[in-house]
Amino acid sequence: MAELQNDRFLRALLKEPVDRTPVWMMRQAGRYLPEYRATRKQAGSFMDLCRNKELASEVTLQPLERFPLDAAILFSDILTIPDAMGLGLRFETGEGPVFDKPVRTLADAKKLYVPDMASDLGYVMDAVSTIRKDLNGRVPLIGFSGSPWTLATYMVEGGSSKTYSIIKAMMFDQPATLHHILDVLADSVIAYLNAQIEAGAQAVQVFDTWGGVLTPRDYNEFSLRYMHKIVDGLKRENDGRKVPVILFTKGGGQWLEAMADTGADALGLDWTTNIDNARARVGDRVALQGNMDPSILYASPERIRQEVATILKQYGNGSGHVFNLGHGIHPEINPEHAGAFIHAVTELSAQYHK
Ligand code: CP3
Repeated sequence: MAELQNDRFLRALLKEPVDRTPVWMMRQAGRYLPEYRATRKQAGSFMDLCRNKELASEVTLQPLERFPLDAAILFSDILTIPDAMGLGLRFETGEGPVFDKPVRTLADAKKLYVPDMASDLGYVMDAVSTIRKDLNGRVPLIGFSGSPWTLATYMVEGGSSKTYSIIKAMMFDQPATLHHILDVLADSVIAYLNAQIEAGAQAVQVFDTWGGVLTPRDYNEFSLRYMHKIVDGLKRENDGRKVPVILFTKGGGQWLEAMADTGADALGLDWTTNIDNARARVGDRVALQGNMDPSILYASPERIRQEVATILKQYGNGSGHVFNLGHGIHPEINPEHAGAFIHAVTELSAQYHK
C-alpha cells in the first residue's frame, strides 16, 4: 500500500502537532457537485452507485480533484446495514429512504441478525479497498456507520421522520424490544467498522444524526450506551498505525463530557455549541471536529472566510481541531463557496500551529 503523503487529519485527531488545521466536509461527495450528479445518472440509482466500486471510488475522489481536502470519506450510506438485514430499502425521489418491512414488534425485532460482512456487505469493503488503491496515499480514508439509535429510527419509523412518534412510543412502552434492536445493531456496527478498517479505512466516524432528539436520560440509555459498546469493540490499530474513532451526535453539545467518557478519540460538534466552550470542557481528552454552520455557505465568499477566521480563533492555538461543517453540505450550495471555505482554512490556520 502506498505511503500516506498527507496525514495531518490523522495527527489532529490524535492531538499530535500539525502544520495547519486539517479540513474535510461531511457529504463532500454529493449532489452539490455537477460531476457527482453525472456519475449518479450513469450508475442508475443511488444504491447502484454504492454497489459499483469503480464509480463509488470515482465520486469519493471528485471533491479532492476540486479542493485541497485533507481526508476522503467512503462513498456509501448508513442504511446499508438495515438493507443487508432484508428490510427492503428504497430511495424515493423527494421522499428520502423508505423501508418496506419496518420493525414494529418484538417478533420483528427477534428476526434481525448481524449481516455477513463478506457476502451481504462485501460491496462496501470492495469500495473501501478500491478507493484506497485509487487514493494512492494522497490523504487518509474515513470509514463510517450510523449509530444504533439513528439506524433504529429509520428501521422502526420505516423512513425519515419529523416526530419519531413510532420509535418513541416503542422506547416508552416496549423498551426491551428497542434494546434488542439496538443490541443487534451495535454488534452489526462493530463487525461493519472492523471490516472497513481491515479493508483499509484509516479512521472511522459514527453518525448519531438523531441522538439530539432524546432527553438526556434517554440519550444515555438508548444512544450513548451503544456507542460506548461500539468504541470498546473496535480495532483501534491497523497496519502499525492508530485508527482514530470520531463520535458525532447532532444536537449533542450538552453531552460532550459523557461522550468523551466512551474513550473515542474525537467528537464531532454541530454549530449550536461554541467550539471554545467545547474545548474548555473536553479538549484535554478528545480532539474536536467541526463546527461551522453549513448554511454559511449560502453567504458570500468574504463572509465565509470571516466565519472560518472566527472559528479558528475560537479554537485557538495547538492541535486537536479538524475543521468541518457542523452537518452535511446542502445540495444547493455553489461549489465555489465550498472552495472558498476550504481555501480559507488552509490559508488562515497555520498561525495557530507555530
Ligand atoms: O459524506 C460523504 O460524502 C459520504 C457519503 C455519505 C452519504 N450518506 C451519501 C448519500 C454519508 C457519510 C452518508 C451518511 C448518512 N446517510 C446519514 C448520516 C449523516 C448525516 O447527515 O447526519 C444519514 C442520516 C443517511 C441516510 C440518508 N441517505 C438519507 C436520509 C438520504 C436521503 C437524503 C436526501 O437528502 O435525499 C440518503 C441518501 C444519500 N446518501 C445521498 C448521498 C450523497 C443522496 C443520494 C442521491 O440522491 O444522490
